[in-house]
Formats: sequence, structure tokens, C-alpha cells
Amino acid sequence: MRRPHAPPLRGSLPPEGADPAWGGPAPDHRAPSTLADHEQQARELLDPAAWAYLCGGAADEITLRANQQAWQDLRLRPRVLQPLAGGHTRLDLLGRTLAHPILVAPMAYQRLAHPQGERASALAAAVLGAGYVLSTQASVLLEDVAPLVLGEPARGPLWFQLYLQTEREHTVALVRRAEAAGFEALVLTVDAPVQGPRDRERRSGFVLPPGIAAVNLPPPHPGAGARGSLFDTLLRTSPTWDDLAWLRSQTDLPILLKGITHPDDARLGIEHGAAGLIVSNHGGRTLDTMTATAALLPEVVAVANSKVPVLVDGGIRRGTDVFKALALGATAVMLGRPVLHGLATGGANGVAHVLRLLIDELEIAMALCGCRSPEQIAERHLHA
Ligand SMILES: Cc1cc2nc3c(=O)[nH]c(=O)nc-3n(C[C@H](O)[C@H](O)[C@H](O)COP(=O)(O)O)c2cc1C
Repeated sequence: MRRPHAPPLRGSLPPEGADPAWGGPAPDHRAPSTLADHEQQARELLDPAAWAYLCGGAADEITLRANQQAWQDLRLRPRVLQPLAGGHTRLDLLGRTLAHPILVAPMAYQRLAHPQGERASALAAAVLGAGYVLSTQASVLLEDVAPLVLGEPARGPLWFQLYLQTEREHTVALVRRAEAAGFEALVLTVDAPVQGPRDRERRSGFVLPPGIAAVNLPPPHPGAGARGSLFDTLLRTSPTWDDLAWLRSQTDLPILLKGITHPDDARLGIEHGAAGLIVSNHGGRTLDTMTATAALLPEVVAVANSKVPVLVDGGIRRGTDVFKALALGATAVMLGRPVLHGLATGGANGVAHVLRLLIDELEIAMALCGCRSPEQIAERHLHA
């Protein structure tokens, strides 16, 4: 939720301090020029408890910090005087040509960041040609989001992120709705059978405000006598590989697995028919002290061995980070929190600006490294 007395957005302010001697208004030094600028302004605009939910991580937030740091620690190694004319960021993914390798990661309850929530982020993604993944825990009906994306000619892929529900009939109902609405793939999140201990969020006293809910799910039914070990209660019905086989039997949609970090799981995922693997530690929100995704990516890429695409998320904040992910073998990346920051600073416009900045930075990184297309980005562009 935005703070009750949040100032108007900077972009909408009339130009102040216009100095005719300089021939125009003074530049607005507060206008965001980077994803970090969006983050800083979003922090000022959002209620502190909402900020703790949206941007916090698990426990000591070691993985949350490590994700960003790991991309920063990789060093680039450019080639010069390469032909760059006719360069582009296009690539193929699951039978579609994407304008660039950036998708919006699934994130719950986006109406906490802006009243339009997922409607705004989906529209911005579609206009900017970014793929969009809608969370099972979206705060807007999936049937309201899909047409916004499907109606945009420049759009990227539209996927639905699935948490397997305790009752299989609830899972099937969600899948049927996603199919009917036009979602083109399922992203099965496998790294969060329980929520991580999000201490920052608990300390802030965060609770979902009235009017914001996971509207695509049936109302929660509190478990009778839900005391006792986690393993006897909540995890009695936690998903296993057999459930993936069952899910595949229920739908023709391709299924990508999100939260694959171990090479053995990558192998099992491919054996079980996953259409793609997403290397993710849930943005440092589940198991703290997990390794950063940049460091986990290469082993998963090696197992996938070009049989299925590998995507990665976590800590991507610069075009050079996207470039490095591709250099390590990812087909594409997913962007998480910066989308929420853009939502907070300017709704759909803010998200579009965040995506535009990242795409522009990627193009610059490609040009400066001597790469004319994503296909040319390779490990040799990283300094060992
Ligand atoms: C507020 C928030 C809510 C999230 N909700 C979901 C979710 O519903 N399903 C899911 O698979 N991942 C969820 N994630 C994880 C993201 O999909 C993604 O893995 C992560 O944010 C990427 O890291 P980054 O934020 O550093 O870019 C959520 C992340 C955040 C920050």
C-alpha cells in the first residue's frame, strides 16, 4: 500500500525551478535513471510494512544480498571492432520469438504496490515485449489480466505460475481457468512447500490489508487442529515428483519448473517432461544461506545441455546482469522486485520504464562486448 500521505509521483509534477537563462526547465534530478533509483523512490512511497513484505527476504537475508552481489562480482571481457550493424536482442523460447530475453517473474499481491496491481505490470510487460508470469497468488483475477496481454501485438509469452493446491480438484480448476483465459504455459514453483521465515516482514507487523487477497484461490479453510510438527500438518500433502507426472496428465500446456538449483533435480525435471527449468531461490525469500543463482546456473545449464531452455532469476538489476546470465548459458531472465518498484513509482508507466531501462542497458552491454545478438553472448565474454 502506498503511504496515506505519499507525495505525487515525480514525473507528474509541473517543472519546478525553470530557468529561462538556460532555455528550459532545470532537469529533474529525482527522475529515476536506474532500477536502483526506482527502488529508492518506491521505498519512500510505500508503507513500511508493505515494503517489508514486498522487498524483504528470509531470515538474515544472506541469499537476498548474495543474489545481487554474485552478478556484480562477475567481470565482463569485451571484444572490440566486431560488426554490430543489424544487431538485435531477439531470441526463440518455447516456439515463440521474443523481442528480448526479459520476463516478469510471478509475484503475489501486486496491488500492495499499486491499486492496479497485476493489471498494470502485465500491460507494461506486454507493451515492452517482455514475457509475463502471473502468480497463483495474484491480487487480480487471471481472467482480467490475460486479455490485457493477449491484445497487445508486441507482447511476449503469457504464463501462469502454479502452486499445487492441497486438493487436486482446486489445482485442476486453476489450470482449466488458465487454459481458457489463454495462458500459454504453466510455471510450477517447486521451491516453496512452506514459506521461509521472513523475519523482516514479521517484525514490521505486516498483514494483508482489507481488499487485497489471492482472488484466484478459494477462500482459505483453516486446518482443524493444525498443531504439531510441520511435517504432520502442512506438509502432509506437499508435492512430489509424482504430482508433476499427474499434472502433465491433466494439461497439454508446457510446464516449466521454477526453483531448480541442484543438477540432480534438473535431471529429474527433464526426465519428468519439464519444458523448461528456472534457476531460482525465490529471490532469497525461502531458504536463507542458499547460494546465489548466478553461481547455481552453470551446473543446471550443463545438465539441460540445450534439451530444454534454462531461465534464471534473483538479483538482476542491470543490463550487464542480463548479459552475464546469458553468458552463463541462460536463455532468458526473470525480473522480480524491480517490477514492484516500478509499480510503486508509476503504475504501468513505472514498470514500463523499469523494463525500458533494463532493455537499453542490455543493448549497450551487448554492443560494448561486441555481440550482435543474444546467440553471440557466451562464456568467453566473462573474465575467469
Ligand atoms: C513480493 C514477492 C512475491 C513473490 N511471490 C511469488 C509467487 O507467488 N510465486 C513464485 O513462484 N515466486 C514468487 N516470488 C519470487 C519471484 O518470482 C522471483 O523468483 C524473485 O523475486 C526473483 O528475485 P528478484 O526479486 O531479486 O528479482 C515473489 C517475490 C516477491 C519479491
